[in-house]
Amino acid sequence: MKTKVGIIGGSGLEDPQILENARQIEMETPFGKPSDVLIEGEIGGVPCVLISRHGRNHDIMPTNVNYRANLWALMELNVTVIIASTACGSLKEEVAPGHLVFPNSIFDRTHRRIQTFFDGEEGHPKGVIHLPSDPVYDEKLRQLLIGCARDLGYTYHDRGFGVCIEGPRYSTKAESLVFKSWDATLVSMTLVPEGLLAKELGIPYANVTLVTDYDCWKDGDHVTMESVMETFAENSHKALALFMRAVVQIGEIDWSDQVRAAKKLARDAVMVGKD
Ligand code: ADE
Repeated sequence: MKTKVGIIGGSGLEDPQILENARQIEMETPFGKPSDVLIEGEIGGVPCVLISRHGRNHDIMPTNVNYRANLWALMELNVTVIIASTACGSLKEEVAPGHLVFPNSIFDRTHRRIQTFFDGEEGHPKGVIHLPSDPVYDEKLRQLLIGCARDLGYTYHDRGFGVCIEGPRYSTKAESLVFKSWDATLVSMTLVPEGLLAKELGIPYANVTLVTDYDCWKDGDHVTMESVMETFAENSHKALALFMRAVVQIGEIDWSDQVRAAKKLARDAVMVGKD
């Protein structure tokens, strides 16, 4: 089967005009409505489906994003893999605004997000799932994204973990300093639970984060929404170019083994009780 790429666009990539032959699809899932319409089309001949995480008008805050519906809808449209973008703050001096980071793990500090499809509700998948969260991201896909950043000559960091805060507020100085003392590389509001939900569906997933600020740990420097949006506007072309390159490369690869392994991992993690 031909590879189809799911793309989840974060802040600043709400409505990228990157798809050829684009058509909008309204969807409803057992988990409710996705953040917005899904846009199906092609990049360089490779079929893609794009969804804007916060909605194209950016009117859904991180806590209220229906992550489950977004992922479920992408699954129903038969995406093979998912690549996603996220804005983030840096917790390290050498990771500067405008740089890209390809996280290899996450530290979850959210507390108001449903992280599983297997919640025991009527009409949802049956059973209880206990999936390993390590690795969070598909390593082959992560390396492919890193290779694209290298090819494009961007400054990037190929590992590091991100702290995901609940938001919508940014961190206090105390919080920021604590995250920094943990040796976290970045802080964001949307790293959780997207990748973990993709794992439950057996869909390889990887994330590129675009650094927009130094959070507030640095003296004389603190993050504001304006500064985030400004840096994003100046740098979002990098995430776009990266995605366009990545999609073409993803389309040239056979993902069957990867997908088979991801689906088996998810399947084997489900315990179903006797009816
Ligand atoms: N997104 C962009 N910058 C951020 C920060 N400093 N904290 C949390 N989320 C962010």
